[in-house]
Amino acid sequence: MMGPTLRTWLLAVVHVVAAQSLTNSTFSSAVPSSAWSPPNTSTTTTASSSSSFLTSLPVTTTSATPLPATTTSTTLTSVATETGPLTWPISEYPFTPFPTPTLAPIPPVYPETDPLNPPPIGTDYNVVPDFAPAWAAAYGKAQSMIANFTIEQKVNITTGVGWMNGLCVGNIPTVANFPGLCLQDSPLGVRFTDFVTAFPAGITAASTWNRALIRARGLALGQEFYAKGVNVGLGPMMNMGRVAQGGRNWEGFGADPFLTGEAAYETILGLQQSGIQATAKHYINNEQEWKRTQESSNVDDRTEHEIYAHPFLRSVMAGVSAVMCSYNLVNDTYACNNYKILSDILKREYGFQGYVMSDWGATMNTLSAVAGLDMTMAGDITLGSGTTYFGANLTAYVMNNTVSEARLDDMATRIIAAWYYMHQDQGYPNVTVDSFHPYNPLNQEVNAQSNHDQLVRQVAAAGTVLLKNEGNALPLTKPKSIVLVGSDAAPPVSGPNEYADQGGDPTGILAMGWGSGTTNFTYLISPYEAIQARAREDQTTVSWDFDNWNLDQAGNDAIPAEVAIVFINSDSGEAYITVDGNVGDRKNLTAWHEGDQLVLAVAAQNNNTIVVVNSVGPLIIEPWVDHPNVTAIVWASLGGNEAGNAIVDILYGAWNPSGRLPYTIAKNASDYPAQLVLGGTATDILSIDYTEGLYIDYRWFDAQNITPRYEFGYGLSYTTFEYSQLVITPIDASVDSAQEDLIQNWENGGASPIAEGSSTALWLHMPLFQVTFNVENTGPVYGGEIPQLYVHHPPSAGEPPSILKGFTNIELVPGQTGQASITISRYDLSVWDVVRQGWAKPNGTIGFSIGASSRDFRLNGTFPV
Ligand code: NOJ
Repeated sequence: MMGPTLRTWLLAVVHVVAAQSLTNSTFSSAVPSSAWSPPNTSTTTTASSSSSFLTSLPVTTTSATPLPATTTSTTLTSVATETGPLTWPISEYPFTPFPTPTLAPIPPVYPETDPLNPPPIGTDYNVVPDFAPAWAAAYGKAQSMIANFTIEQKVNITTGVGWMNGLCVGNIPTVANFPGLCLQDSPLGVRFTDFVTAFPAGITAASTWNRALIRARGLALGQEFYAKGVNVGLGPMMNMGRVAQGGRNWEGFGADPFLTGEAAYETILGLQQSGIQATAKHYINNEQEWKRTQESSNVDDRTEHEIYAHPFLRSVMAGVSAVMCSYNLVNDTYACNNYKILSDILKREYGFQGYVMSDWGATMNTLSAVAGLDMTMAGDITLGSGTTYFGANLTAYVMNNTVSEARLDDMATRIIAAWYYMHQDQGYPNVTVDSFHPYNPLNQEVNAQSNHDQLVRQVAAAGTVLLKNEGNALPLTKPKSIVLVGSDAAPPVSGPNEYADQGGDPTGILAMGWGSGTTNFTYLISPYEAIQARAREDQTTVSWDFDNWNLDQAGNDAIPAEVAIVFINSDSGEAYITVDGNVGDRKNLTAWHEGDQLVLAVAAQNNNTIVVVNSVGPLIIEPWVDHPNVTAIVWASLGGNEAGNAIVDILYGAWNPSGRLPYTIAKNASDYPAQLVLGGTATDILSIDYTEGLYIDYRWFDAQNITPRYEFGYGLSYTTFEYSQLVITPIDASVDSAQEDLIQNWENGGASPIAEGSSTALWLHMPLFQVTFNVENTGPVYGGEIPQLYVHHPPSAGEPPSILKGFTNIELVPGQTGQASITISRYDLSVWDVVRQGWAKPNGTIGFSIGASSRDFRLNGTFPV
């Protein structure tokens, strides 16, 4: 008999599957797009689940079975297309494979780089790694492998086996000597298995503003994917947090393209160093969850290039293997069917050599292959339908010349090349996850955790931002008594995996959001456990009250304590799960579980009230931020399985806070430049016009003179820093004559050319100026500062007043002065010229500031260009 736990887990999976399915269509070939119907997004998942089972139950292990991909007797008239039955090759779709860039490596600025051996972590990015030779070698091997493949075999390389038909969330079948691929979520841990680490979320990693820690997190995460035999890790996620309420913002790196780009760059270098393929997702403009498969993000070309595409450019420069196109439409064409974004920007402009996979069920037709889609995931038209737009349909299209065989060769070559490029042909571990059978002992065969708990604790502490600290309330110094108030301080009532994909109302500490961007917790340290253990060292009296709803009791409990610490949170996630009416996106920007009232109730009784916030993104904290009894605010983000220990490290000063906000905390929700677009009918495509253009987050607040509560880049320390001695030094690196011509052209006001790899070219990205300055620790304790460089373009450029273009970190003992350095490239100073379709230097003086946040400038200069 099926036990209750197994049954509830299965129910949860059924919910997930139902909600992820786009339609119940059972067409056996490509369906007309009019037959497409919207997803059911109103599922509430409250079922309890856990996959950390130590007992083994009989399970059926499903091996990867390909969807029907072969067809030997295709009758052209029997194949449906998006415009009706196909009777003849409908048109010519010219296709030219994009060659790998051929520029000779110029070390040290442009060293030939193998992804398993990335450049060392710099304090800034003054090395431009050159992955082209590695790609070229991999292409050679891939081309030989497919030389004798049939059309059907090549198609099978591009077609996932279908949802829940394999061990991983995505599976490419074995084809001849190619063993196939396991593709697995998520950006913060290996999903759907046991003995893995729940790393701090992307938003927490970004809050560290620390390249070394971001790289280390990527590497450790990659090592866990590798240990479990996963070929392709489905991260990092780099959407932009355009809308503060966006449900999946926490999976990404905040609301600034430069910070997101650098975090993506370091994460990918780390992930791929481990030997796994990284996936840059979701390309592009999937900025809200509501109607994500039914909205057109309408974005102008300049905004697309400068804001949303930039992190993908940096991903390509990090040598990323795969890119996942998103569910939404971009300017009225589905992202996975959008030639402009897939082929023109990504493959032509950025010179991307890897492959584009669809998000799960995001392929909209067979001709997407021509637009630039290389792989359809999970393979089926709608998850679980057993039908596919690739497979037999793609075979037919190639056989009747609708899609050229050269294009199919390119698709298969890119996928196999990425496998060779990552050296996965050399003794790769077997897959030891079984995503859809949590009781399969296979999930426990490999313990991938290593000592990653230490890194998790460090990243979570470094990603914590101290927002307020009055009268040295923090760090705690042997307090006589502490009371912990709020459910967010506690372990979750029914265990760390009380909801499938974390998709339920959190009953304890919030350490990640919900959806596919999650992993199962192997364990989870709550603040309650961590603080109580630490407080014993001082023999402090510790009490607690986890009931958010009894405000009188919370206030009374706070009366006798020397320190009252209130824990509040705010959750969000992916649209296939609805939690308390939040359909992925947050309904509002206020704390969950009456958090504001709880803080006020405690602050009314205790004049040393410290607020700890675990939130997926910005909150409006006006009700209590200025309350005189609220002495400190600790913005603890989403800390993963060491969340409680990291909070202890900040509260007690074992880690001097160095995190900085990766987004703006506003005074009013309406102060933000973009809001969710809601409504829409079951069949309409919702228009989301990005009318704010370049002015997202702090760029908007600056331009509109809106005072935020805490600005982008803000964060306090237990010490203080002073800045001095600004020096700008031109860097004269030698390049070949072709690059010299391009440099001359740029200096004369010309735009970068329209060519393969034009936006990632060496001359554009090599360091042009080195900016150095001194930072002195003028306070009482050792600490790290994050100096930030903001460019101010001349008014004629039409740019926001200040835009982040550099940051570094420097750690100093009291009284010590150190020199910090940030390099700037021509790309950093350029704007996208929509007429000339290239990067160009604006006319006029380009100024910059070095500061401690986007509004706290300490040194100013101009670039001599
Ligand atoms: C859909 C999500 O959008 C994507 O991020 C994820 O990787 C796939 N599902 C696979 O689970």
